[in-house]
Amino acid sequence: MKQVLQAQQVRKLYRLGDHSVNALAGVDFAVEQGEFVAIMGPSGSGKSTLLHLLGGLDKPSEGEVILAGNRLSELNDQAATLARRHHVGFVFQFFNLLPTLTARENILLPLLIDGKDTNGYEERLLTLLDLVGLSERQNHKPDQLSGGEQQRVAIARALITAPELVLADEPTGNLDTKTGRAIMQLLRRSCDEFSQTMVVVTHDPQAAIYADRVIFLRDGLVVQQIHLNPQEPLAVRLKMVMDEMEKLAE
Ligand SMILES: Nc1ncnc2c1ncn2[C@@H]1O[C@H](COP(=O)(O)OP(=O)(O)O)[C@@H](O)[C@H]1O
Ligand SMILES: [Mg+2]
Repeated sequence: MKQVLQAQQVRKLYRLGDHSVNALAGVDFAVEQGEFVAIMGPSGSGKSTLLHLLGGLDKPSEGEVILAGNRLSELNDQAATLARRHHVGFVFQFFNLLPTLTARENILLPLLIDGKDTNGYEERLLTLLDLVGLSERQNHKPDQLSGGEQQRVAIARALITAPELVLADEPTGNLDTKTGRAIMQLLRRSCDEFSQTMVVVTHDPQAAIYADRVIFLRDGLVVQQIHLNPQEPLAVRLKMVMDEMEKLAE
């Protein structure tokens, strides 16, 4: 299988005045095309840091990230930006929607930034609006939308370019259980139908069960990983994830 993403001995040290935080302490892993990976771990374990490094939004202190065949350390900032734009869709924890744009305009933004003519994307836009249940809300601005609706706009925005890789940081973090489940099902479907690769950070086992593989981080290290079978009932997968979380908490 083709590997879309690789982290090799990735370390990240944040310097804060006279002390430093070892956010990532040597992370190795690879993600295959079409795979759905969940990254779990307690608050402060390095999940967001890892996701940012994987998407080339920030640079590791040591080690290498290989994104769609590009060794990110060998690219200058401009080339890294282009690699990201062409291969990655991001869903950020706090949505990052532009307040002055409507839902529809926010979703189209990645195309505009890349200088693409959005006319050719109208059908995809309508499909995505329908998938995320926002067809009736496309002309609303973010402050006229609920948290869950804003999150769904952010997800449609990440999918509009049909990126081969979607990186999502706590995509269900601010949502009620029902909306959260719908979002995870949407990401799962996107993965199954379009062979997109998903890497989703979450601390919620109810969200992690949609993954094929769950990676557990603690203190900046991968301490465990388990494989889930999507054919198994949700309850069985949930138990596997929760058992693992319990073991790691001991
Ligand atoms: N920009 C930053 N500057 C300094 N320390 C940071 C920064 N971002 C994260 N950290 C620290 O790095 C560690 C990992 O953070 P983070 O990746 O956000 O964890 P998580 O997403 O798992 O909660 C934490 O101790 C956090 O305080
Ligand atoms: Mg985080």
